[in-house]
Amino acid sequence: MIQPSHVGIIMDGNGRWATARGLPRYEGHREGLKTLKKTVETAINRGLKHLSLFTFSTENFFRPKEEVDFLMFLFRQAFKDYIGEAIEKGIRVKIVGNTKLLPNDIQDLCDEAVQKTKHNSQITVYFAIAYGGRREILDAIEKILQTAKPEAITEEWFKSFLYCPDMPDVDLLIRTGQEFRISNFLLWHLAYSEIYFCDKFWPDFTEVDFTLAMEFFSSRQRRFGRTPEQAGNKFEITKCNNIINSNLQSETA
Ligand code: IPE
Ligand code: IPE
Ligand code: MG
Repeated sequence: MIQPSHVGIIMDGNGRWATARGLPRYEGHREGLKTLKKTVETAINRGLKHLSLFTFSTENFFRPKEEVDFLMFLFRQAFKDYIGEAIEKGIRVKIVGNTKLLPNDIQDLCDEAVQKTKHNSQITVYFAIAYGGRREILDAIEKILQTAKPEAITEEWFKSFLYCPDMPDVDLLIRTGQEFRISNFLLWHLAYSEIYFCDKFWPDFTEVDFTLAMEFFSSRQRRFGRTPEQAGNKFEITKCNNIINSNLQSETA
């Protein structure tokens, strides 16, 4: 079975999960956190190398204050509880997002988690927190304007200004919660992702659902704009990519 290297998840539906049970929305977030932890376990057991989790978007700041405050409380707790476990399990934590928008103590906890796990290599888990895909592009442009013009404007060069320059493209995107959109998640890295929608609300997402998504991925033929025949031939794909890159570079030089 062909495995994705990087799986991204839009963990949606916590609020509706709770409402359907007559519970306040925050109970859904609490339950969603448990599912998040179990999903990281599953990803490790499957030998996945990169997992990115949409945890809180720039747009989510516009939710009612009590909900935002509760989510911040949950992040605080989760980071404090989770650092030890992350170290023990070989999880390298990375944060993607405009963390300056977060309360100071959470920024510190994010830094601490990244620092203390930076030598781990079992899996890299990217927490997208205070993250917006458009904001990431604007933040990159802001950094670019402070640097000298390069010899050639390439994709690799632009990527080096994103929040996590070494984050690979997302191979498989999973979205739960019966919504069929990407909601401003990892716009750059989703360019050629396979997308799997799971009807369940996030707290109900299980290992079986993860397996179904992985099976879906392995049944896809990724063509990257080529013909089915070309795509069946890995050598052909690499050759095409090299030609496209060198053409683009000579055009922009
Ligand atoms: C996802 O669940 C978690 C966050 C956005 C923080 P929601 O809170 O969006 O749940 P629904 O979509 O309202 O059910
Ligand atoms: C996306 O869910 C953000 C996260 C899962 C953190 P939303 O619930 O915010 O997305 P929309 O508003 O339905 O597009
Ligand atoms: Mg939602």
